[in-house]
Amino acid sequence: MQHNGADRPGRRATDHGAKAVTMSAPTLPVGRQRLSSDLPVVAKAHGSRIYDEDGREFIDGSSGTICVNIGHGSTDVLAAMREQAELVTFAHRSQFTSRSVLALTEKILSIGGPGYREVVYTNSGSEATETALRLALFHHALAGSPERSIVLTQQPSYHGMTAGALSVSGHPPRREHLDALVSTGVSTVPVTSDDPAADPLPATSAWEEAFGRIGPERIAAVLVEPVSGAAGGAAVLRDDVLRRLRELTSASGALLVMDEVMTGFGRTGDWFGYQRSGVTPDLVVTGKGLSGGYTPIGAVLVGASVLPGRSASDLALGHTMSGNPLSAAVALAVLRVTEQQRLPERAERIGAELRRRLEEEVTGKVGFLDQPRGRGLLLGLPVRQAAGAHARAPLAATICRAAREFGLVVYPAGVNHWTQALLVAPSLTIEDAELAELVRRLARTVTAVDTQLARTRGRRW
Ligand SMILES: Cc1ncc(COP(=O)(O)O)c(C=O)c1O
Repeated sequence: MQHNGADRPGRRATDHGAKAVTMSAPTLPVGRQRLSSDLPVVAKAHGSRIYDEDGREFIDGSSGTICVNIGHGSTDVLAAMREQAELVTFAHRSQFTSRSVLALTEKILSIGGPGYREVVYTNSGSEATETALRLALFHHALAGSPERSIVLTQQPSYHGMTAGALSVSGHPPRREHLDALVSTGVSTVPVTSDDPAADPLPATSAWEEAFGRIGPERIAAVLVEPVSGAAGGAAVLRDDVLRRLRELTSASGALLVMDEVMTGFGRTGDWFGYQRSGVTPDLVVTGKGLSGGYTPIGAVLVGASVLPGRSASDLALGHTMSGNPLSAAVALAVLRVTEQQRLPERAERIGAELRRRLEEEVTGKVGFLDQPRGRGLLLGLPVRQAAGAHARAPLAATICRAAREFGLVVYPAGVNHWTQALLVAPSLTIEDAELAELVRRLARTVTAVDTQLARTRGRRW
């Protein structure tokens, strides 16, 4: 893929190996996103490399927050952005449609397949989750069953920060102090396994039990991620569980909603993470990779039977900027790059290579990391830490902060000590040499953290 300028070293020579690792506790727990107050000031980015204003260079080992699917600075996307900006950037969707929105809709529907009829646009993944929930409630109201209002979701899960999306998220740290905002019309299915670290997602029996306990006729929708990212540390929803959820929802009249915000558009090795299971969800929620971080946009694919005889455009949905021509043109260019470079296939191939290298060069080297889990280029390295120590200072956040000192960006995930993981999820376009360098920098990071832990063990960890 072409980028806007070749990779260039920063203004100053970079010595990522030399710094001491600071082991002080992060200022806030991992669930609150902030790792430290001394963030570098970003200056520019090309491909999988980011540069700060001090001239330090970083490998983007997590595509930001698993968002920059096609790398930074794609000349194809920048050209499309400029071309559209010179024509028109904004026209409200109630007054005009645009060529870029029409073309993007056609492209998204062709990726989703014949099960989908419409696309509703938003500005983020959170808003897309909200939109899908609204569509599910509209669906039941139009079908004469407004009493169906319970959304069944799982613990752990993450579906967004807005109030409705947070209500359906099994992510306690991000809900703290927000009880007044989050809805009670949600039921969360917990993990029932004896060894949650081995299988951090609820089993089929737990979902069946929840359907029986709540009453299938009261359930409006089941909402799941194919790979639980921010909350589950790349725990994979098993295909047999997903197929059973499709059976349970179809039999009871509830809708199956798939959150593909993190997994969508090639990240897991398929265009969408659910596609391998053979199920067709009623609603598919997207964001992040749809524009690869080039502009804010989210979208919901609406299944053919969600609004029989009606269109989502008749309903009160959306925000001022939703479906603006500029974001649509950018997303279309990102999807074209994804298609032309066969990036879903590449994610599968490079993901297998990355997993092998992580096993060989990273996870076996230290006692606090388990073998990678995940799918395609969405991998999580489970971090082992005692519950009490995790509550005081999550080790994953400390490792991510240490990684910055070695010129690497990785992302901390998980809601408790057994879901805690480092997400390693570079762009689908990452080059072979960069992948090798990513793994080298991560190996140096975890070795330095291990040495520091050995010094402080017994006191803080
Ligand atoms: C699975 C999932 N759903 C929804 C969201 C929310 O998306 P956004 O941050 O764009 O609002 C995220 C963000 O991390 C996510 O990972």
